[in-house]
Amino acid sequence: MSESHPGLAEGLAKRANCIQLPAGFLIGTATAAYQIEGAVADDGRGESIWDRFSSQRGRIKGGDTARVACDHYNLFETDIEIMAQLGINAYRFSISWPRIFPDGRGAVNCRGIEFYQRLVDKLLRSGIEPFATLYHWDLPQSLQEQGGGWLRRGVADDFADYAYSVSRKLGDVAHWSTINEPWTFGWWGYGFGTEAPGIDGGAKSALAAIHHALLGHGKAVEAVKSNNSRAEVGIVLDLNCVSPASDVKADFAAAKRFDGCQNRWFLEAIFNSRYPSDMLELFASDGPPVREGDMARISAPLDFLGINCYRRSIIGEGSDFPPLNIRRASPEGRVTAMGWEIWPQSISDILRRVDREYRPNALYITENGAAFEDRFESDGRIIDLDRAEYIIEHLEQSLEAQSRGVNLKGYFAWTLLDNFEWTLGYSARFGLVRVDFGNDCARMLKSSGEYFRQIAMQARSH
Ligand code: FCB
Repeated sequence: MSESHPGLAEGLAKRANCIQLPAGFLIGTATAAYQIEGAVADDGRGESIWDRFSSQRGRIKGGDTARVACDHYNLFETDIEIMAQLGINAYRFSISWPRIFPDGRGAVNCRGIEFYQRLVDKLLRSGIEPFATLYHWDLPQSLQEQGGGWLRRGVADDFADYAYSVSRKLGDVAHWSTINEPWTFGWWGYGFGTEAPGIDGGAKSALAAIHHALLGHGKAVEAVKSNNSRAEVGIVLDLNCVSPASDVKADFAAAKRFDGCQNRWFLEAIFNSRYPSDMLELFASDGPPVREGDMARISAPLDFLGINCYRRSIIGEGSDFPPLNIRRASPEGRVTAMGWEIWPQSISDILRRVDREYRPNALYITENGAAFEDRFESDGRIIDLDRAEYIIEHLEQSLEAQSRGVNLKGYFAWTLLDNFEWTLGYSARFGLVRVDFGNDCARMLKSSGEYFRQIAMQARSH
């Protein structure tokens, strides 16, 4: 959609106005520690696998690093003031494991935990519900060096100990997610090696890392609950609607394999205490190292499931992603700057499917958003109507699912600030707020932020 499209701005304002958020609905923005905090060596923080990975030549676009990122570690008060201006009533953030345990385990680094205590206190004073994620990909490097990080079974216990310590110290946090997107870091970090820690061990390695992460998740649920039985605890999965690229049988089968790997692998384990049999058959001897009692642990009852949803996956048979042997088709139509198709109905479809097939207690959209180029007006304003439109249409679709009976309790836009987008460095901007990385990380609200404020303010008035 062109930014200069006449009437688009007005049309979006009308649509934003028509969005009715149910009473008690959480509306907020999501971030991840590594992508925004910077200050990687401050106050005793240890090295993480993403620090090590980004320091290797050729890993990150433009050689970017997250040493400063958005300098949120120093500017968090300003950022909470921006959130208050946006009118949001919830904020999803992650805690950096190497800030709390610089070597992954041992004694708590008090200065690390104090940062999150200050953050949580200010959020609560500002009427913003803290929604904390324990692991958003920044594993302490020393755990990687001891037995291969998530490849070592015992890391699940290290994670549970960390979850216990953090949830004990942050007793005012009522919403906890254990792990963000085990599919992503499992496959790309340990299977293909294109993300941290850069291990290209194939399916066997990816499935072992994912199994240990899920085991860690199950143990962390117990750990958090043991500190705060009233806390809502869940996990965050990256789920996609998958459609076959054509009517041909082979494409149907490929789409089923992809769905099995990305969606059912996690949903079946968490809700039905098993990995899908067709996928176990496909992975054969590369399958996960399951021991007795693991699946019961992994399927510990959850208060909610968080879904990150950005796009639909159109899949045909091909040679990518062995042993899935698939190819991702690029449909014609609108795409974001990442080349991801814009298909808003996918968010209501995935919400309804998960609700129908797995009956979670509650659902949140924990991430949804889009990268686009920002455009400056002559008066200096940043007009990013594409992003505003993307968020409005996906929120409309989320609420459509909610109106059909899905227990959707909140929506978090990805993301508050332009930030370090992993291997893409600073080249992909997803923020409602622009960050001028060359100018002390100055923040500036974009027009998408203005529309989001219009929507969020209604929740405040309930
Ligand atoms: C998700 C990640 C998040 C961000 C968005 C664009 O998969 O959880 O950190 O990179 O994609």
